[in-house]
Amino acid sequence: MRLTLSVIKADIGSVGGHTKPSTRMMAAVEGEVAKAICDGLLIDGFVSHTGDDIAIIMTHTRGEGSSEVHQLAWKAFLAATSVAKTSGLYGAGQDLLVDAPSGNVRGAGPGVAELSFDHSLSGTRPAESFMVFAADKCGPGAYNLPLYLAFADPMYCAGLMLPPMIKGFRFHVIDMDNTAGDSVIELDAPADGYHIAALLRDNERFGIDRIVSRTHGEVAVAISAQRLHAIAGKYTGKDDPVAIVRNQGIFPAPEEIVSPFAKAHFVGGDARGSHVMPLMPVPINTPVTGMYCLPIVSCTGFSIDKDGRFSESFTDFFDNPAWDEVRRRAQRKAIEMRSQGWSGAAMLPYSELEYGGFRDTVSSLLKRFQMRKERKPEAAE
Ligand code: 13P
Ligand code: 13P
Ligand code: MG
Ligand code: MG
Ligand code: MG
Repeated sequence: MRLTLSVIKADIGSVGGHTKPSTRMMAAVEGEVAKAICDGLLIDGFVSHTGDDIAIIMTHTRGEGSSEVHQLAWKAFLAATSVAKTSGLYGAGQDLLVDAPSGNVRGAGPGVAELSFDHSLSGTRPAESFMVFAADKCGPGAYNLPLYLAFADPMYCAGLMLPPMIKGFRFHVIDMDNTAGDSVIELDAPADGYHIAALLRDNERFGIDRIVSRTHGEVAVAISAQRLHAIAGKYTGKDDPVAIVRNQGIFPAPEEIVSPFAKAHFVGGDARGSHVMPLMPVPINTPVTGMYCLPIVSCTGFSIDKDGRFSESFTDFFDNPAWDEVRRRAQRKAIEMRSQGWSGAAMLPYSELEYGGFRDTVSSLLKRFQMRKERKPEAAE
């Protein structure tokens, strides 16, 4: 069977400020997903939230970009938006940027990551397992560094030295500033590793769109690499990307995939989407309530049975005391960075801030600049 894994996520409202969706909002999304499973549109579905973003993880056989599957997600988000509006929640419907997208919701606000594979539980994939990363309060390139390290650097993934992976992986890198459509370059690691790094270092413009095994041609990773402000033309919240990562066998093992997240690397995001702050790994369904508004990321793991259904339980990777150490490191890094307030590297460059209200503040001041008149030398006594 040709199985498609779709993860579609959106921020459609939250309780007490931009912290988390309400229980009734979650129930509204879960209700729509349960109906779609009952009607045979989906094989399976799982709903969780990371901060104020709700992610729907789905298996089905309709292929990537299926209008039925995308419309189901849109309908579920509309149902939750209506709950959010009735309850007076903050940012109700925030990520639903168009009125009624026809078909595919990519480019309409929700984040979409999808990949497909032949699901036979034989050959190179005697078992199918995957992880889903979901982030909040951060920019679209948040996975650039950790997934580069997991799929291109044997210092993080020793499995790259083994026969199934030694030919490396092909990175599809997308230029998220190109609003004319999806503009993608394909580069092979390890041969083009430095070229890949030269692009991925810019988390705000370039993102990993997918990663494909060079030996097996199988897609390992799909990411919702898109920029909300490129769609809306203004700041409407942070991008808060999701990623699907298949693991084990011909792909890195889970620990090789999560270990780069131990860095708590700095990303663009945090309060008003304007700061440079560390990415803190957290369990799923964690609200954003820290003393800043730290970028957070969750990671759930699933197996898939022969019929395309998820295992009856899932793994919450960052819900483990091992990650407490990283969370403390993230908090320490955050305190250091924020002690610098608004100065220089502590906030995003103006090119990013110009999508928000900072543009208005600075442009009104720019109008008041004047060329200084030539100063006459002081007359000699
Ligand atoms: P297990 O013996 O628990 O299967 O672990 C082996 C392994 O290879 C871990 O990556
Ligand atoms: P969200 O995208 O999660 O709404 O967050 C954006 C923000 O501006 C945080 O202050
Ligand atoms: Mg929000
Ligand atoms: Mg959010
Ligand atoms: Mg957002």
